[in-house]
Amino acid sequence: MTTIAVAKGDGIGPEIMQAVLNIFNAARVPLQYEFVDMGKWVFDKGYSNGMTPDAQKTIEELGILFKGPMETPKGKGVKSINVTARKTWNTYANKRVFQTLHGVDTVFSKAGIAIDITVVRENIEDTYGGIEHMLTHDVALSRRFITKPGSMQVIKYAFEMARKKGTTRITCGHKANIMKLTDGLFLETFYEVAKEYPDLKADDIIVDDLCMKLVTRPDSFDVVVLTNLQGDIVSDLCAGLVGGLGFAPSANIGDHIAIFEAVHGTAPDIAGRNIANPTALLLSGFAMLRHLGFMESSAIIENALLYTLEQGVRTGDFGDRSKPALNTTEFSDAIISNFGKQPVNHPRPLLTDKEITPTVFKLEENPMMENRENTEETIVGVDMFIESNEQPTEVAEKCLKHTLNLFKLVTISNRGTQIWPKGSMFTNLVNTYACRFESIGDASVTQTDIIELYKRLSADFKICSTELLNMWDGKKAYSLAQGQ
Ligand code: NAI
Repeated sequence: MTTIAVAKGDGIGPEIMQAVLNIFNAARVPLQYEFVDMGKWVFDKGYSNGMTPDAQKTIEELGILFKGPMETPKGKGVKSINVTARKTWNTYANKRVFQTLHGVDTVFSKAGIAIDITVVRENIEDTYGGIEHMLTHDVALSRRFITKPGSMQVIKYAFEMARKKGTTRITCGHKANIMKLTDGLFLETFYEVAKEYPDLKADDIIVDDLCMKLVTRPDSFDVVVLTNLQGDIVSDLCAGLVGGLGFAPSANIGDHIAIFEAVHGTAPDIAGRNIANPTALLLSGFAMLRHLGFMESSAIIENALLYTLEQGVRTGDFGDRSKPALNTTEFSDAIISNFGKQPVNHPRPLLTDKEITPTVFKLEENPMMENRENTEETIVGVDMFIESNEQPTEVAEKCLKHTLNLFKLVTISNRGTQIWPKGSMFTNLVNTYACRFESIGDASVTQTDIIELYKRLSADFKICSTELLNMWDGKKAYSLAQGQ
């Protein structure tokens, strides 16, 4: 018997979790469940991260969390428990498999186009850091972290998974044409990893083009790997291709802990009525069973599910409306009654169970994933983000008073567009300027020089934020303003 942690979740969570566990129990899956306290009601009890210390301890000991959807209380100061869980336990890869299911009609299934796309989404970084500040009353700033070690982890996972799955193509979706440093780093890492997998055809596509091609030629994609936010959006798009959120499973994979959940939320509009569709959670359960090596149980239940769907058995959210809809319990009972039946389309082979070596969960310290290269590093200036509602020339005049014979004022931009020394009167302004000070003759400057500049500028402006301008091996480690 393997013990896993189970959190039933909020809204429809307890109903669909019960349905799935009933199916597992009926199939005699060798699992034991330790129920843990997580979710909105735990927030309401005063636990600010939405889980009790006991829940955290249990999950860290067992290494597997099977969870229902959870509601994050609205209002400031509370972070999503779903995102917190993924980040705390470094489940860096979010894998979502979208396959045509017979019995779940879509425009593509009706046209005979079979879809089998796996989206691997980076799960920790990007704007999901939620590192946000109001710079002025008018200007909000979100910091988007894309890191080399973080990108490396998820991209390596995607390549390994693609190879195991026997796919031939792996595609990186990105926006590196605009975000040259952040998405550029992700894309560069993708091709670096690709060199280790010459058997896989690796290519890349700009994310907007990817969306267009996914809806016109979904059968041309296989495994797609993306950064967090783009992956979030693209994976919901893919859910729509195969019949909606009711059929979208999700596995959050880390080196020590893995979380399996449906993509959908708590569906408050139908909660407590026993009418929700448990399929997405069940599909996530299959991913969990395979992760644990229970290949045979997974295949038996999956074949029963596919057979049930082929028979036109449905909950109210999908399928042929002329047929009666079953409630959640009836739907799961129908699956149980079909154990041993084979679907006509794509029956799953009854593989024998795999011996999986349990991971060692005890860590003595937080892993540091530094990927430092031996480069010559110098600081050559600073971007000072200042608050001002004056015209660019007035801002420039004030800045020029403070350059200390150490710095030159190179450019002033507003929302990333240069407006000094050259610009256009047609550029609308907001009350935050980025003033770029570079050292004279590209000499290096120290942080103390920058603090001195900061002090002097602060006599004229409120400085909202600063960024160092670094040079690595003579190459700028920062972007230029539009028009610079
Ligand atoms: P939602 O996914 O809960 O609902 C969107 C629509 O899909 C609703 O009409 C709902 O009835 C329907 N739906 C969703 N799952 C269904 C199912 N299994 N069977 C039948 N119909 C289903 O999204 P919404 O309304 O944006 O979010 C509600 C709450 O869920 C929010 O508090 C949100 O933060 C939370 N949420 C939690 C997630 C998680 O735990 N991983 C993921 C997404 C949202």
